[in-house]
Amino acid sequence: MKKPDYTILVCNSYRVAGDAQGYCNKQGATSLVQHITEECSDRGIDAVVTTTACFSVCSQGPVVVIQPNNYWYGGMNADKIDEVLDALEEGNAVEAYLIA
Ligand code: FES
Repeated sequence: MKKPDYTILVCNSYRVAGDAQGYCNKQGATSLVQHITEECSDRGIDAVVTTTACFSVCSQGPVVVIQPNNYWYGGMNADKIDEVLDALEEGNAVEAYLIA
């Protein structure tokens, strides 16, 4: 199996019971998953995009983490994601959006 170049984790606030009901979900994180997936496909970025439970930095959500770079982004929306992916294509981070 060939592993992807990137794993992009989108907090969707899942709780132990399986419900998505926390801050990132309420701020539209679900729609970011489709946007990121489509943008990666269009740009030829080899990434798996998946949703997660809470990263425990809710006040900075919606939170998106890119591995293996260990870039933690907060306050994400579609426009900011586009900037993040522009930078990723160059091997860089958007420092202004990093939370960790
Ligand atoms: S709900 Fe997303 S970081 Fe907590």
